Amino acid sequence: MNNETTAPVTVLGLGLMGTALARAFLKAGHPTTVWNRTAAKADSLVAEGARLAPTIGDALAGGVTIVCLTDYSAVRELLGDAGLEGTTLVNLTSGDSAQARETAAWAEKQGARYLDGAIMAIPSSIGTAEAVILLSGPRPDFDLGALGTVSHLGEDPGLASLYDVAGLTMMWSVLNAWLQGTAMLKTAGVDAATYAPFAQQIAAGVAGWLPGYAEQIDKGAFPAEVSALETDARAMAHMVEESEALGVNAELPKLIKAMADRAIAAGHGGEQYPVLIREFERPGE
Ligand SMILES: NC(=O)c1ccc[n+]([C@@H]2O[C@H](COP(=O)([O-])OP(=O)(O)OC[C@H]3O[C@@H](n4cnc5c(N)ncnc54)[C@H](OP(=O)(O)O)[C@@H]3O)[C@@H](O)[C@H]2O)c1
Repeated sequence: MNNETTAPVTVLGLGLMGTALARAFLKAGHPTTVWNRTAAKADSLVAEGARLAPTIGDALAGGVTIVCLTDYSAVRELLGDAGLEGTTLVNLTSGDSAQARETAAWAEKQGARYLDGAIMAIPSSIGTAEAVILLSGPRPDFDLGALGTVSHLGEDPGLASLYDVAGLTMMWSVLNAWLQGTAMLKTAGVDAATYAPFAQQIAAGVAGWLPGYAEQIDKGAFPAEVSALETDARAMAHMVEESEALGVNAELPKLIKAMADRAIAAGHGGEQYPVLIREFERPGE
């Protein structure tokens, strides 16, 4: 395998994301072959220097092949009869970890080297350090740095998808928490822009707690060094009562309090907040 940073690459799938990937490879100087079911979508990339593969078989015969289609069923449909012996596939199509593991087993059985991946970025950021590209599966001996900040997470092909959903959970949870506070403050005439810097400061402060809390989770010991869960639960009651009194949505505050209450009922009230991992590790009620 070519170790150079400008090794030949192929991109299968020229939707919004695939086009951005191919363009970033071209810009970085990779000889780039492209293929798309609707061939006309390759026109602008060909004008920029890409080679249009006449067939899927021809496309796969090049170097590392990046696959970026709508979903995993499209990937299986496209590559089902393509002949994968000797190919190196990097599937950046979004999906879940089970689909990634199944597709890895399926591709490897056909003689392909298969990496699964996830793109945590929008097309316009591809090619910049801001674009986070996650890979899992065999350790790559090729360089996809032209696409953004690329991390290899481990041999298990499901890891990239798992990190992807973990990151999305973080993102939407933070945003929902911010929206809850914004709705509460709006009742007092405070606009979102006024609250945003305060919320940013709180979010950054909480982010700083993560390494210490992670240590407690990994050790399975949750001494109340800062605050006990039952103290936290009293503050959560204010959050619920205030939301109800203001007439804003109280679903999120109630969910937060209900999880803490369950952990307290299970005897964890004197321990520190990350003991709630036990609630997150099992199916909800
Ligand atoms: N766009 C984003 O912001 C973003 C961000 C992160 C991750 N992603 C992920 O990237 C992947 C592609 O997204 P996108 O935005 O590029 O979607 P898109 O613009 O809708 O493009 C979908 C691509 O899949 C191809 N395709 C679908 N079914 C096919 C089949 N059965 N056989 C062959 N080709 C097929 C389409 O070909 P035709 O052109 O012929 O229809 C097209 O190239 C998705 O998994 C998405 O979740 C996207």
